[in-house]
Amino acid sequence: MPRIALIPGDGIGPEVVREAVRVLERVMRGDGLSFDLVELPYGAERYLREGVTITDEEFRALDEDYDAVLLGALGDPRVPGNEHAKDILLGMRVKLDLYVNFRPCALLSPELSPLRSIDAPFRLDIFRENTEGEYTGMGGSFKMGTPDEVAIEENIGTRKGVERIIRAAFEWASSRGRTRVTLVDKANVLRHVGGLWRRVFAEVGGDFPEVRRDAMYVDAMAMDLVRRPQEYEVIVASNLFGDIVSDLAAEVTGGLGMAPSANLHPGRHALFEPVHGSAPDIAGTGRANPIGAIRCVGLLLDHFGHHDSAARIEDAVVASLEAGSTTPDVGGDLSTEQVGEWIANHVDGAPAPVS
Ligand code: NAD
Ligand code: IPM
Ligand code: MN
Repeated sequence: MPRIALIPGDGIGPEVVREAVRVLERVMRGDGLSFDLVELPYGAERYLREGVTITDEEFRALDEDYDAVLLGALGDPRVPGNEHAKDILLGMRVKLDLYVNFRPCALLSPELSPLRSIDAPFRLDIFRENTEGEYTGMGGSFKMGTPDEVAIEENIGTRKGVERIIRAAFEWASSRGRTRVTLVDKANVLRHVGGLWRRVFAEVGGDFPEVRRDAMYVDAMAMDLVRRPQEYEVIVASNLFGDIVSDLAAEVTGGLGMAPSANLHPGRHALFEPVHGSAPDIAGTGRANPIGAIRCVGLLLDHFGHHDSAARIEDAVVASLEAGSTTPDVGGDLSTEQVGEWIANHVDGAPAPVS
């Protein structure tokens, strides 16, 4: 039986993970699937209490004793430097070598987009490099706190790192019948790392002649994601640019609360988390949209080959949107828990409760 580590984390993390687990347990019962769900207490609470973020032994266990991770979010105003989130979240991405950050953005219903120009559903899949770029912590400070202070943050691009994420994007496009992959970079200024990405993009793309390829500077892409996001199919980007364009793409497809993601080392490990953070501004109010986390369960089920079960979750999400049974961020007036129950009941085939 696959073992899944549940890391609810901070803020709204536990609130949305609770609903994701509710839906997962309902699917397990209905479809006769078995997962061993083990909750782990990593987050701000433990860090503040014990001074521990995550230990080497806990990383080893995540690597060897679990088949996947479902994470809520990490980030707490009581830890202003975000040390625990860096250790736990960025630590898992790097130590488990989860080099693909797959962020599918699907506009399920045109009314969900804040953009006037959109009149039909569309999908935009983002492949974010997840282990290098500006995220390695390489750099340093010199003469800190003096008028002569120097701060350096290195941007790391390796051929191996760039090659494998670009290949993942093209393989995904090719195997899903998508016709276009767009590289997002800033190669006009970041000549060294940008140049490497451009060369590798052309080389790897050459292995997929059926997929059209083009490149866009990240500033122009930010503009175009507001102007005509439906023109793009698959985007591949560095760690930092992928972080930024995935929030933007999530917002134009219904909001951060809707967007799931998968951090993957294909064939080896997988971590699923909503794209949003711990949203301290709404934590504890019952207003957090659980759909991003619930759709992570869909990605998890797809990952383990349970495609029909995953599709039923997506159908139940669409049904909740059509019924207006949603949290306020997408126009409804239900609580986090009520949306979780609604979707779980719909997945189950039971009549949706009247709220
Ligand atoms: P955020 O994503 O937490 O929130 C941004 C805005 O979106 C807020 O107004 C919030 O209320 C809203 N929002 C987010 N998720 C929502 C949901 N499910 N339903 C309804 N509204 C939602 O980003 P932030 O405010 O920049 O960051 C807060 C903390 O989370 C920080 O500590 C940050 O570092 C952390 N963070 C963690 C992750 C992660 O764990 N993967 C991701 C992003 C941010
Ligand atoms: C995300 C988050 C993280 C990131 C932060 C919390 C370190 O914004 O998962 O998108 O920058 O990757
Ligand atoms: Mn982000």
